[in-house]
Amino acid sequence: MPITQVIDAPLDEEREAITAAAEALRNGEVVAIPTETVYGLAADAFDEVALAKVFEVKERPTLDPLIVHIGIKKDLNSVATIPDDIREVVKELTTEFWPGPLTLVLPRNPAIPDLVTSGLDTVAVRMPNHSVMKAICKEVGPLAAPSANRFGRISPTSASAVLDELEGRIPLIIDGGACHNGVESTIIHVEAGEKRPQFRLLRAGPVTKEELQKFGKVIKSGRVTDEKLAAPGQLPSHYSPETKFVLVEDIKNFVFEDGVKYGLLAYKGNAKEGYVDAHEWDAVEILSPGKGKLTEAAVRLFYSMRQLDASGVDVIVAEPVSETGIGVAIMDRLRRAAAEKD
Ligand code: TXA
Ligand code: MG
Repeated sequence: MPITQVIDAPLDEEREAITAAAEALRNGEVVAIPTETVYGLAADAFDEVALAKVFEVKERPTLDPLIVHIGIKKDLNSVATIPDDIREVVKELTTEFWPGPLTLVLPRNPAIPDLVTSGLDTVAVRMPNHSVMKAICKEVGPLAAPSANRFGRISPTSASAVLDELEGRIPLIIDGGACHNGVESTIIHVEAGEKRPQFRLLRAGPVTKEELQKFGKVIKSGRVTDEKLAAPGQLPSHYSPETKFVLVEDIKNFVFEDGVKYGLLAYKGNAKEGYVDAHEWDAVEILSPGKGKLTEAAVRLFYSMRQLDASGVDVIVAEPVSETGIGVAIMDRLRRAAAEKD
């Protein structure tokens, strides 16, 4: 496939892009579409040939299940089979957080293909809060969409980042500008619990533990059963730049080697933290210059990682952010980027 077309979807003039994407999806194609978290690589959730293309294009193992996106709440029933004991809490969660960056893992509807769920008896589903993605889901129906990057790499938060990842591999990218949240959705496995509902946190994201606690008990991720990984695709070394990536407690204590080019991924870029003078950096990216806002840092995180990865440095040195609110999701991504690959 030699050419990847990019169609603009400017605010208030999205119709042309929505129609083009819907047509391609109905024809069994895969299309990169913006969401509020990261760009997704979408396929009709019931079209197994199109789903197979998603795995092929991403070079993603089929043991890693996909998230299904819906544009209207009633489509939830065609994707999941909601048991009575969690019906009430699912209603509360979807009323509070949808459309938005919360993915629910629920018992699947048998009509959902095994390729979507990797053969698990559960399915992950969310309603995205992005006008373009929502409109396309409404027109075509439920869409399975992983992040639009090659497997294990940094998620794209702009159309140009998708092009870097997938040019020549997919026919169409819808350009809706930069993503508002910047990190992938929070994923929870919804369980009835003994006294109150409980949510097993499978991936930290923009919807925080504190926000979820109003509706049930948030418990640590891990394994649902001994045999099954709770979130099978969540490998420790996800979100990896190609460049060596280290996360340090305190950059002042970091030992720099001669002849090595270092790039800095800073949170606030505050000179008082000591790292500005610690080394003559070959490249610097600051996530939230000034006071440091975690929501801004999240929006810029993957973009900044990509910039440093492309800057030609030998090692990227990242400093931690405070681990509260969406900072939990940022630290999760930084730790995974720093984890050794197999
Ligand atoms: O924000 C997001 O969630 C983005 C946008 C495009 O919506 N999507 C995304 O998809 O991040 P992806 O494929 O990169 O991550 C989906 C992860 C899988 O790796 C897996 O860990 C988890 O969702 N997942 C999917 N289905 C699951 C299931 N049935 N049980 C447990 N985990 C599941
Ligand atoms: Mg991903």
